[in-house]
Amino acid sequence: MAPKTASTPKIIVFDSGLGGLTVYRELRDTLPNARYLYIADTDAFPYGNLHKGELLTRLLALFDRLIEREKPDICVIACNTASTIALAHLRDHFEVPFIGTVPAIKVAAQQTRTGLFSVLGTPSTVAQDYTLDLVERYAGSCEVTMVGASDLAMLAEQFMQGEKVDEDLLRHEIAPAFARRNGQRTDCIALGCTHYPLLVDLMHKVAPWSVTYIDPAAAIARQTQRVLSQHSVRKHAATESGANQLLYTGGDGIGENISPFLQAMGLLDVSHDEIIG
Ligand code: DGL
Repeated sequence: MAPKTASTPKIIVFDSGLGGLTVYRELRDTLPNARYLYIADTDAFPYGNLHKGELLTRLLALFDRLIEREKPDICVIACNTASTIALAHLRDHFEVPFIGTVPAIKVAAQQTRTGLFSVLGTPSTVAQDYTLDLVERYAGSCEVTMVGASDLAMLAEQFMQGEKVDEDLLRHEIAPAFARRNGQRTDCIALGCTHYPLLVDLMHKVAPWSVTYIDPAAAIARQTQRVLSQHSVRKHAATESGANQLLYTGGDGIGENISPFLQAMGLLDVSHDEIIG
């Protein structure tokens, strides 16, 4: 019997680890019938500490292999560090559309009432021209504090593995994002790393005062839907409804504790794949 096919878009969702799941969960709500392949490049985690050139070379090699093998309809870079460094290069190199994830600086500039907001990202993301250009373009009338947090993504990974988060370290990591100037205080923080929404409840708990954390994930999902609607979608072999795949590149695995969470998110097929070996 000929294999069943359906016009279901195949979407690659990509991050250095589990942070991209915050984008994946919005994608799944917005495009529930798509077929997802989530890639966690855990072998190179954390991206925030990698040299820019090294990360760019790695991403081009990974996507060269992935696109040839998987033939996705669209790739979502669910990682601010990778997006701010490589998005333009990936779009130049490959025909398949790429959606990036970058801090919602325009939204923060519109939402702040005190005129003080912060961008909290990896040390790499807050230093990229891409990010600084967004601040210049959209937040000229605001006081913007750029904060590169070295350990927050790692804390989020530990949290996802069911480990207890060191709240003192978390407080220390976010503290520079809380600024005071001329009697005003920071009231919005644009989350510039997809791992951070995983910690948002704990961040509220240890914060010196209450702020609005701005997560771009829902907007990324809507943008993916818009771009897909403008492209023809290939016919992919149908899978059992809701059964999606997660591949991780690191040799250490991704931990047993996370299995129920992944299953609840429809990521039923989880395996190791070095991709570029
Ligand atoms: N989740 C990633 C981001 O949005 C990267 C975290 C890391 O690997 O340092 O930037």
